[in-house]
Amino acid sequence: MTAEEKTVPLSFERVAAEETSARAKRFAEHARLRRSVRKFSNDPVAVEVIEHCIEAAAQSPSGANKQPWTFVLVTDVNVKRSIREACEREESAFYAGRATRRWLDDLKPLGTTPDKPFLEQAPALIVVFAQRHGDERKDRHYYVTESVGIAVGVLVAALHHVGLGTVTYTPAPMKFLSKILGRPDNESAYMVLPVGYPAPDCDVPDIERKPFDEVIVRV
Ligand SMILES: Cc1cc2nc3c(=O)[nH]c(=O)nc-3n(C[C@H](O)[C@H](O)[C@H](O)COP(=O)(O)O)c2cc1C
Repeated sequence: MTAEEKTVPLSFERVAAEETSARAKRFAEHARLRRSVRKFSNDPVAVEVIEHCIEAAAQSPSGANKQPWTFVLVTDVNVKRSIREACEREESAFYAGRATRRWLDDLKPLGTTPDKPFLEQAPALIVVFAQRHGDERKDRHYYVTESVGIAVGVLVAALHHVGLGTVTYTPAPMKFLSKILGRPDNESAYMVLPVGYPAPDCDVPDIERKPFDEVIVRV
C-alpha cells in the first residue's frame, strides 16, 4: 500500500520588505563572525540548548522526507575520551602517510595536527550519522549525503546563532565511531561537532573568504 497525499495549509509568517532586508543583512553579518573553534573553555553548556539546535537541524529538508540522520549527543567524559583516543590514532596515521603531500600542504595554513584535545575539552560532542537506508534494507533513502550535509549546515548555523562554538570535524576513516557509540549497520558516521564556548585564548587561522563577486554569478 502506498501512502496517500494529504495537505495542510502552509504556516508562513510574511514579514514586511524592510524587515526582510534588515534580517538578510543581519544574518550575513552574523555569518561572517562564524569561525571553526578548535579550543574550548570548560564552561558548561545547558544540554537543552544543544538539543534545541539539534531539533532545528532535524527540521531540514531531505530526499523524499526520509530524514536520514541520527545525532548522537555525547557528554559522558569517558566516552569523549575514547573518541579522542581513537581519533588521534587515525589522525597519527593520516599525518604520517595516509594523506597525500598535497592534502597536507593544503592543511598547513590551518595549523591542524594529530592532537585533538578539543574532543575532551568541549562539554559536548554531536556525532552525526547518515542512515544509508532505513531499519530494513528495503526502506530506501535518497540523496543521503546531500540531506545530511544540509542538516549539518543548519546545525552549525543554529549553534552560531545561540552563541556557541563548533568545528565540523571529520576524522578519516571514522568507522570506529559506530563501534564506540553502538550504532546499527545502516548508519555511517558522517561528522563530529564538538560544542561549547571558545576558550578565552582561542586563536583561529588567519584565512580569508573569496570576494563575493567570485562566488556569485548573476544571470
Ligand atoms: C566537510 C568539512 C570537513 C572538515 N574537516 C575538518 C577536520 O577534520 N578538522 C578540522 O580541524 N577542521 C575541519 N573542517 C573545518 C575547515 O577547516 C574550516 O571550515 C575552513 O578552514 C574554514 O575556516 P572557518 O570554518 O574557521 O571559517 C572541515 C570543514 C568541512 C566543511
